[in-house]
Amino acid sequence: MSDLQVLKDFLLCETPGSWIASALQHQDVLLIDHANCEKKAASTAMNLMYRYVDRTELLQKMSQLAREELLHFEQVVKIMQERNVSYRHIEPSRYASSLRQYMRDSEPDKLIDTLIIGAFIEARSCERFAALAPSLDKTLQKFYLSLLRSEARHFEDYLQLATIYADEDIAGRVAFFAEREAELISSEDKQFRFHSGSPQQ
Ligand SMILES: [Fe+2]
Ligand SMILES: [Fe+2]
Repeated sequence: MSDLQVLKDFLLCETPGSWIASALQHQDVLLIDHANCEKKAASTAMNLMYRYVDRTELLQKMSQLAREELLHFEQVVKIMQERNVSYRHIEPSRYASSLRQYMRDSEPDKLIDTLIIGAFIEARSCERFAALAPSLDKTLQKFYLSLLRSEARHFEDYLQLATIYADEDIAGRVAFFAEREAELISSEDKQFRFHSGSPQQ
């Protein structure tokens, strides 16, 4: 089974066609928010490295992940420059903050939830790159397809770390976040962003 199929099975719903149409209409916002997501992914990984210095596998995987996300960030910024898209501050989507509101406070639950949420963000990003690619111009299509492999690996890394550090089977917690994630993707969202829901009619 391909990497992409594994993460498509992990997610409970596909990106709606209406979101793809909206993304093609708002390519500037798509690129700016994509750049922000790459930057945030690097910073989340580094925060984990500060917080959990005694977790060796986490330090190694998150260090590599942070470097890769920063490289993706540089690539998005370069494409923005080539297209005269000016980088301005835009509000983040509801997606990550909505998932994080369900995080448990005590350890190691907090770590496990952070890692599971990380797995969902990576899986959804990967699914969206693949869903968007056929509709994009050649340059952006090539770039988005080039990101699939690393984002699929990041998804696997997060899930593997959650499994290693959990005291119990994580299946129930994964199923819980899968439901919340699918609600955020399929319900109406008034804002367009890389991880936004179904565009408001
Ligand atoms: Fe990335
Ligand atoms: Fe990633």
